[in-house]
Amino acid sequence: MIAKANSNIAIIKYWGMRDEKLVLPANSSVSFTMDDQLQTITNVEFDESLKKDDVTLDDRATTPKEYERVTKFLDVVRSMAKQKNKKIKFACVVSRNSFPKAAGLASSASGFAALAAAASKAAGLELDEKKLSALARRGSGSAARSVFGGAVEWRMGNRKDGSDSYAEQLSPPEKWKELRNVIAINSSQEKKIGSMEAMKRTVKTSRLFPARLKSVGERLALVRKAVRAHDFEGMAQAIMQESDGMHAVMLDSWPPIVYLNQISLGIMDRIVELNESYGRPVAAYTFDAGPNAHVFTISKHENEVKKALAGIQGMERTLTCRIGQGVRFL
Ligand code: PMV
Repeated sequence: MIAKANSNIAIIKYWGMRDEKLVLPANSSVSFTMDDQLQTITNVEFDESLKKDDVTLDDRATTPKEYERVTKFLDVVRSMAKQKNKKIKFACVVSRNSFPKAAGLASSASGFAALAAAASKAAGLELDEKKLSALARRGSGSAARSVFGGAVEWRMGNRKDGSDSYAEQLSPPEKWKELRNVIAINSSQEKKIGSMEAMKRTVKTSRLFPARLKSVGERLALVRKAVRAHDFEGMAQAIMQESDGMHAVMLDSWPPIVYLNQISLGIMDRIVELNESYGRPVAAYTFDAGPNAHVFTISKHENEVKKALAGIQGMERTLTCRIGQGVRFL
Protein backbone atom coordinates (compact mmCIF):
# COMPACT_ATOMS: atom_id res chain seq x y z
CA MET A 1 0.00 0.00 0.00
CA ILE A 2 1.46 3.37 -1.03
CA ALA A 3 0.56 6.67 0.61
CA LYS A 4 1.90 10.18 0.31
CA ALA A 5 1.83 13.07 2.76
CA ASN A 6 3.24 16.58 2.81
CA SER A 7 5.13 18.43 5.45
CA ASN A 8 3.47 21.18 7.49
CA ILE A 9 4.68 24.31 9.23
CA ALA A 10 3.12 25.34 12.52
CA ILE A 11 2.01 28.92 13.11
CA ILE A 12 0.78 28.08 16.62
CA LYS A 13 3.44 25.71 17.90
CA TYR A 14 3.22 22.35 19.59
CA TRP A 15 5.98 22.44 22.18
CA GLY A 16 5.60 20.25 25.28
CA MET A 17 3.78 16.99 26.01
CA ARG A 18 1.39 16.14 28.80
CA ASP A 19 1.83 12.42 28.06
CA GLU A 20 5.04 11.23 26.42
CA LYS A 21 4.03 7.65 25.63
CA LEU A 22 0.80 8.63 23.88
CA VAL A 23 2.29 11.88 22.49
CA LEU A 24 -0.40 14.12 23.96
CA PRO A 25 0.40 17.82 23.68
CA ALA A 26 0.31 20.47 26.40
CA ASN A 27 -1.52 22.85 24.03
CA SER A 28 -3.44 22.85 20.76
CA SER A 29 -1.60 23.96 17.61
CA VAL A 30 -2.29 25.28 14.10
CA SER A 31 -0.35 24.73 10.87
CA PHE A 32 -0.44 25.04 7.11
CA THR A 33 0.20 21.91 5.08
CA MET A 34 2.83 22.54 2.40
CA ASP A 35 2.60 21.63 -1.28
CA ASP A 36 4.03 18.52 -2.99
CA GLN A 37 7.58 19.90 -3.07
CA LEU A 38 7.90 18.78 0.54
CA GLN A 39 6.47 15.29 0.40
CA THR A 40 7.10 11.78 1.64
CA ILE A 41 5.93 8.73 -0.32
CA THR A 42 5.83 5.48 1.63
CA ASN A 43 5.11 1.90 0.66
CA VAL A 44 4.22 -0.65 3.36
CA GLU A 45 3.63 -4.37 2.75
CA PHE A 46 3.12 -6.89 5.55
CA ASP A 47 4.92 -10.08 4.59
CA GLU A 48 4.50 -13.47 6.30
CA SER A 49 7.97 -14.56 5.29
CA LEU A 50 9.83 -11.71 7.03
CA LYS A 51 11.60 -12.44 10.32
CA LYS A 52 11.72 -8.75 11.27
CA ASP A 53 10.66 -5.38 9.87
CA ASP A 54 12.66 -4.26 6.86
CA VAL A 55 12.97 -0.45 6.57
CA THR A 56 14.57 1.66 3.82
CA LEU A 57 14.61 5.46 3.97
CA ASP A 58 15.67 7.51 0.96
CA ASP A 59 17.33 4.47 -0.65
CA ARG A 60 19.58 3.75 2.32
CA ALA A 61 19.49 1.47 5.34
CA THR A 62 18.23 3.10 8.54
CA THR A 63 20.29 4.06 11.57
CA PRO A 64 19.42 1.97 14.69
CA LYS A 65 17.55 4.97 16.13
CA GLU A 66 15.45 5.46 12.99
CA TYR A 67 14.75 1.72 12.81
CA GLU A 68 13.55 1.64 16.41
CA ARG A 69 11.24 4.60 15.87
CA VAL A 70 9.63 3.02 12.81
CA THR A 71 9.23 -0.46 14.35
CA LYS A 72 7.77 1.01 17.54
CA PHE A 73 5.22 2.80 15.40
CA LEU A 74 4.47 -0.40 13.47
CA ASP A 75 3.87 -2.08 16.85
CA VAL A 76 1.06 0.42 17.48
CA VAL A 77 -0.49 -0.50 14.10
CA ARG A 78 -0.06 -4.23 14.86
CA SER A 79 -1.79 -3.89 18.22
CA MET A 80 -4.71 -2.03 16.59
CA ALA A 81 -5.00 -4.77 13.96
CA LYS A 82 -4.94 -7.44 16.68
CA GLN A 83 -7.95 -5.82 18.37
CA LYS A 84 -9.79 -6.34 15.10
CA ASN A 85 -8.71 -9.99 14.92
CA LYS A 86 -6.43 -9.35 11.99
CA LYS A 87 -3.21 -11.32 11.90
CA ILE A 88 -0.29 -9.34 10.55
CA LYS A 89 3.40 -9.88 11.04
CA PHE A 90 6.44 -7.95 9.94
CA ALA A 91 6.46 -5.28 7.27
CA CYS A 92 8.65 -4.07 4.47
CA VAL A 93 8.72 -0.25 4.53
CA VAL A 94 10.22 1.85 1.73
CA SER A 95 10.01 5.60 2.22
CA ARG A 96 11.27 8.48 0.10
CA ASN A 97 11.30 12.23 0.58
CA SER A 98 10.82 14.45 -2.47
CA PHE A 99 13.34 16.90 -1.06
CA PRO A 100 17.00 16.18 -0.38
CA LYS A 101 17.75 15.43 3.25
CA ALA A 102 20.69 17.80 2.94
CA ALA A 103 18.29 20.72 2.50
CA GLY A 104 17.65 20.64 6.24
CA LEU A 105 13.92 20.32 5.61
CA ALA A 106 13.57 16.67 6.64
CA SER A 107 10.24 16.29 8.28
CA SER A 108 8.93 13.73 10.70
CA ALA A 109 5.46 15.18 10.01
CA SER A 110 5.22 14.04 6.38
CA GLY A 111 7.13 10.85 7.21
CA PHE A 112 4.81 9.62 9.96
CA ALA A 113 1.62 10.80 8.27
CA ALA A 114 2.54 8.78 5.16
CA LEU A 115 3.65 5.80 7.27
CA ALA A 116 0.46 5.86 9.35
CA ALA A 117 -1.70 5.93 6.21
CA ALA A 118 0.19 3.22 4.32
CA ALA A 119 0.68 0.90 7.31
CA SER A 120 -2.89 1.13 8.61
CA LYS A 121 -4.32 0.44 5.14
CA ALA A 122 -1.86 -2.41 4.55
CA ALA A 123 -2.93 -3.88 7.90
CA GLY A 124 -6.56 -3.86 6.78
CA LEU A 125 -7.60 -1.08 9.17
CA GLU A 126 -10.10 1.31 7.59
CA LEU A 127 -9.46 4.46 9.64
CA ASP A 128 -11.34 7.70 9.11
CA GLU A 129 -9.24 10.89 8.94
CA LYS A 130 -9.56 11.67 12.65
CA LYS A 131 -8.47 8.17 13.66
CA LEU A 132 -5.64 8.32 11.13
CA SER A 133 -4.54 11.67 12.57
CA ALA A 134 -4.55 10.22 16.11
CA LEU A 135 -2.46 7.29 14.87
CA ALA A 136 0.06 9.53 13.03
CA ARG A 137 0.39 11.52 16.27
CA ARG A 138 1.94 8.47 17.95
CA GLY A 139 4.90 8.64 15.55
CA SER A 140 5.43 12.39 15.75
CA GLY A 141 3.03 14.98 17.16
CA SER A 142 3.18 17.29 14.17
CA ALA A 143 2.32 14.36 11.85
CA ALA A 144 -1.25 14.47 13.24
CA ARG A 145 -1.71 17.72 11.28
CA SER A 146 -0.22 16.48 7.96
CA VAL A 147 -3.15 14.09 7.47
CA PHE A 148 -5.16 17.14 6.39
CA GLY A 149 -4.51 19.76 3.72
CA GLY A 150 -4.91 23.53 4.01
CA ALA A 151 -4.99 25.15 7.44
CA VAL A 152 -5.19 22.59 10.21
CA GLU A 153 -5.77 22.65 13.96
CA TRP A 154 -4.60 19.83 16.21
CA ARG A 155 -6.86 19.94 19.26
CA MET A 156 -5.00 18.84 22.35
CA GLY A 157 -8.02 16.93 23.75
CA ASN A 158 -8.70 16.16 27.40
CA ARG A 159 -9.07 12.39 27.60
CA LYS A 160 -6.34 10.38 29.24
CA ASP A 161 -6.29 7.75 26.51
CA GLY A 162 -5.70 10.42 23.82
CA SER A 163 -8.75 9.41 21.79
CA ASP A 164 -9.82 13.08 21.42
CA SER A 165 -6.36 14.39 20.49
CA TYR A 166 -6.40 14.64 16.69
CA ALA A 167 -6.31 17.28 13.97
CA GLU A 168 -9.10 18.84 11.94
CA GLN A 169 -9.11 21.05 8.87
CA LEU A 170 -9.78 24.75 9.51
CA SER A 171 -9.79 25.78 5.85
CA PRO A 172 -9.13 23.82 2.62
CA PRO A 173 -6.05 24.61 0.46
CA GLU A 174 -8.03 25.99 -2.49
CA LYS A 175 -9.54 28.68 -0.27
CA TRP A 176 -6.27 30.57 0.13
CA LYS A 177 -4.48 30.37 -3.20
CA GLU A 178 -2.46 33.58 -2.78
CA LEU A 179 -0.76 32.51 0.43
CA ARG A 180 2.95 31.72 0.02
CA ASN A 181 5.59 30.27 2.28
CA VAL A 182 9.04 31.43 1.21
CA ILE A 183 11.40 28.99 2.91
CA ALA A 184 14.80 30.51 3.53
CA ILE A 185 17.33 27.69 3.71
CA ASN A 186 20.46 28.67 5.57
CA SER A 187 21.64 25.43 7.09
CA SER A 188 21.54 21.80 6.09
CA GLN A 189 23.03 20.53 9.32
CA GLU A 190 21.20 17.87 11.34
CA LYS A 191 19.81 19.24 14.58
CA LYS A 192 21.85 18.52 17.67
CA ILE A 193 18.82 17.58 19.71
CA GLY A 194 15.57 16.06 18.41
CA SER A 195 12.34 17.94 19.09
CA MET A 196 10.79 15.30 21.36
CA GLU A 197 13.80 15.20 23.66
CA ALA A 198 14.11 18.99 23.57
CA MET A 199 10.49 19.64 24.51
CA LYS A 200 10.76 17.24 27.47
CA ARG A 201 13.67 19.36 28.67
CA THR A 202 11.64 22.56 28.33
CA VAL A 203 8.68 21.15 30.28
CA LYS A 204 11.03 19.99 33.02
CA THR A 205 13.27 23.04 33.37
CA SER A 206 11.81 26.22 31.88
CA ARG A 207 10.19 28.64 34.32
CA LEU A 208 8.73 30.58 31.41
CA PHE A 209 6.94 27.53 29.99
CA PRO A 210 3.81 27.75 32.23
CA ALA A 211 3.42 31.42 31.21
CA ARG A 212 3.60 30.44 27.54
CA LEU A 213 0.84 27.86 28.04
CA LYS A 214 -1.38 30.49 29.66
CA SER A 215 -1.13 32.85 26.69
CA VAL A 216 -1.14 30.39 23.79
CA GLY A 217 -4.93 29.82 23.90
CA GLU A 218 -5.65 33.50 23.34
CA ARG A 219 -3.21 33.68 20.43
CA LEU A 220 -4.68 30.51 18.94
CA ALA A 221 -8.21 31.98 18.97
CA LEU A 222 -6.95 35.08 17.15
CA VAL A 223 -5.04 33.07 14.53
CA ARG A 224 -7.94 30.62 14.00
CA LYS A 225 -10.28 33.53 13.27
CA ALA A 226 -7.80 35.20 10.87
CA VAL A 227 -7.10 31.90 9.06
CA ARG A 228 -10.79 31.25 8.53
CA ALA A 229 -11.25 34.80 7.19
CA HIS A 230 -8.07 34.55 5.03
CA ASP A 231 -6.91 37.71 6.74
CA PHE A 232 -3.11 37.84 6.40
CA GLU A 233 -2.64 41.09 8.30
CA GLY A 234 -4.80 39.77 11.12
CA MET A 235 -2.48 36.85 11.80
CA ALA A 236 0.99 38.10 10.79
CA GLN A 237 2.18 39.59 14.08
CA ALA A 238 0.76 36.71 16.12
CA ILE A 239 2.66 34.22 13.92
CA MET A 240 5.96 35.97 14.57
CA GLN A 241 5.37 36.41 18.29
CA GLU A 242 4.38 32.76 18.57
CA SER A 243 7.65 31.66 16.99
CA ASP A 244 9.60 34.04 19.23
CA GLY A 245 7.71 32.74 22.27
CA MET A 246 8.56 29.12 21.53
CA HIS A 247 12.24 29.91 20.95
CA ALA A 248 12.24 31.95 24.18
CA VAL A 249 11.16 28.94 26.28
CA MET A 250 13.74 26.83 24.45
CA LEU A 251 16.45 29.29 25.45
CA ASP A 252 15.04 29.36 28.99
CA SER A 253 15.47 25.55 29.27
CA TRP A 254 18.51 24.05 30.94
CA PRO A 255 20.86 23.29 29.30
CA PRO A 256 19.59 25.90 26.83
CA ILE A 257 18.18 24.74 23.49
CA VAL A 258 19.25 26.94 20.58
CA TYR A 259 17.98 26.15 17.09
CA LEU A 260 18.26 29.63 15.54
CA ASN A 261 21.57 30.84 14.09
CA GLN A 262 22.92 34.29 13.17
CA ILE A 263 21.25 34.13 9.77
CA SER A 264 17.87 33.34 11.38
CA LEU A 265 18.22 36.46 13.53
CA GLY A 266 19.14 38.46 10.40
CA ILE A 267 15.97 37.21 8.70
CA MET A 268 13.83 38.27 11.66
CA ASP A 269 15.33 41.79 11.51
CA ARG A 270 14.87 42.06 7.77
CA ILE A 271 11.20 41.04 7.88
CA VAL A 272 10.45 43.49 10.70
CA GLU A 273 12.12 46.25 8.61
CA LEU A 274 10.14 45.28 5.52
CA ASN A 275 6.87 45.46 7.46
CA GLU A 276 7.86 48.80 8.98
CA SER A 277 8.55 50.21 5.52
CA TYR A 278 4.95 49.41 4.59
CA GLY A 279 3.46 50.50 7.88
CA ARG A 280 1.59 47.16 7.96
CA PRO A 281 2.59 43.49 7.93
CA VAL A 282 3.26 42.06 4.46
CA ALA A 283 5.40 39.14 5.64
CA ALA A 284 5.59 36.93 8.75
CA TYR A 285 8.46 34.66 9.78
CA THR A 286 8.24 31.47 11.77
CA PHE A 287 10.89 28.90 12.76
CA ASP A 288 10.39 25.30 13.87
CA ALA A 289 13.12 23.27 15.58
CA GLY A 290 15.79 24.51 13.19
CA PRO A 291 17.39 27.66 11.73
CA ASN A 292 15.57 27.70 8.37
CA ALA A 293 12.89 30.40 8.18
CA HIS A 294 9.39 29.98 6.79
CA VAL A 295 8.25 33.42 5.69
CA PHE A 296 4.55 33.72 4.97
CA THR A 297 3.37 36.36 2.55
CA ILE A 298 0.77 37.00 -0.15
CA SER A 299 1.69 36.29 -3.80
CA LYS A 300 1.97 39.96 -4.77
CA HIS A 301 4.77 40.46 -2.21
CA GLU A 302 6.60 37.21 -2.95
CA ASN A 303 9.39 38.70 -5.08
CA GLU A 304 10.01 41.48 -2.66
CA VAL A 305 10.29 39.03 0.24
CA LYS A 306 12.73 36.92 -1.78
CA LYS A 307 14.79 39.99 -2.60
CA ALA A 308 14.88 41.04 1.05
CA LEU A 309 16.06 37.57 2.07
CA ALA A 310 18.63 37.26 -0.72
CA GLY A 311 20.58 40.20 0.68
CA ILE A 312 21.28 38.42 3.95
CA GLN A 313 24.81 37.09 4.26
CA GLY A 314 25.03 33.29 4.54
CA MET A 315 21.59 32.60 3.06
CA GLU A 316 21.79 29.50 0.85
CA ARG A 317 18.59 29.65 -1.17
CA THR A 318 14.85 30.09 -1.03
CA LEU A 319 12.07 27.71 -1.97
CA THR A 320 8.52 28.96 -2.33
CA CYS A 321 5.65 26.69 -1.31
CA ARG A 322 1.91 27.07 -1.65
CA ILE A 323 -0.63 25.55 0.66
CA GLY A 324 -1.04 21.87 -0.13
CA GLN A 325 -3.15 18.79 0.34
CA GLY A 326 -3.44 16.11 2.97
CA VAL A 327 -2.74 12.37 2.82
CA ARG A 328 -3.44 10.60 -0.48
CA PHE A 329 -3.25 6.93 -1.44
CA LEU A 330 -1.70 5.87 -4.71
O1 PMV B 1 6.33 16.48 15.79
P1 PMV B 1 7.64 16.79 16.44
O2 PMV B 1 7.94 15.87 17.58
O3 PMV B 1 8.76 16.86 15.44
O4 PMV B 1 7.54 18.27 17.08
C1 PMV B 1 7.31 19.40 16.32
C2 PMV B 1 7.65 20.63 17.03
C3 PMV B 1 7.69 21.89 16.18
O5 PMV B 1 7.93 21.59 14.84
C4 PMV B 1 8.81 22.77 16.69
C5 PMV B 1 6.39 22.68 16.30
C6 PMV B 1 5.20 22.14 15.58
O6 PMV B 1 4.08 22.38 16.08
O7 PMV B 1 5.33 21.54 14.50
